[in-house]
Amino acid sequence: MNLPRFIALIPAAGVGARMGATVPKQYAELLGKPMLEHVMDTFVDCAQIHQIFVVVSADDAYIEDIPTKSRTQILRCGGATRQASVTNGLQAMQSQVNANDWVLVHDAARPGLTVALINKLIAAVKDDPVGGLLAMPVVDTIKRSDAHGHADHTVSREHLWAAQTPQMFKHAQLLSALQTGSHVTDEASAIEALGLKPTLVEGSPRNFKVTLPHDVLLAELYIKGIA
Ligand code: CTP
Ligand code: MG
Repeated sequence: MNLPRFIALIPAAGVGARMGATVPKQYAELLGKPMLEHVMDTFVDCAQIHQIFVVVSADDAYIEDIPTKSRTQILRCGGATRQASVTNGLQAMQSQVNANDWVLVHDAARPGLTVALINKLIAAVKDDPVGGLLAMPVVDTIKRSDAHGHADHTVSREHLWAAQTPQMFKHAQLLSALQTGSHVTDEASAIEALGLKPTLVEGSPRNFKVTLPHDVLLAELYIKGIA
């Protein structure tokens, strides 16, 4: 079997409903450059990444405005959910990758990712049989509410993590896990449903997911290196 390579898959086929901007949020400009392009450039700058695939929707009207990048292919196969977009992307790249290649799935909406974080994840996971993901240990006191928004009880934050991306799994195993699993919000949940335990690797606050309009300013501060 060939040595596994490291492949990036960037789902970018969402509409950004919570952002409520005139363009889908992956095309919102941060410091004059679309969010998606920041993410593409970070993977291009990472020498360990062999190839980069970006999944957009079939009717995407903005991707052509982003300059062509080395080692990068655009796949116009976005689906109705993030899970469908990732599954379609894994299928579309299948003829170009090996079953045991690692795929690093990363949200276009996390422009704070750095080459150092990608390298940290790869170093921590490349010899693991299952795979893993960046995540942040929960630092706040966590409350579970009743149906009326009152604190019902406090949940221990011991062993609690907030998942980030990239999430790194073997191509064939991830594809079959996503196809057999029910609805999941990240790749790791699909792997966990197989009874496997992904490795949690500490990420960074700067790798947060841009979701609401006020997140743009904070993302720009991180990219500038101020925050
Ligand atoms: N995504 C995707 N295909 C979908 C939905 C989401 O590729 N059908 C991508 C988004 O473009 C984003 C990532 O998955 O890069 C994380 O999703 P999220 O932050 O929820 O983005 P949106 O779904 O676009 O935003 P919202 O949920 O506010 O509509
Ligand atoms: Mg969404």
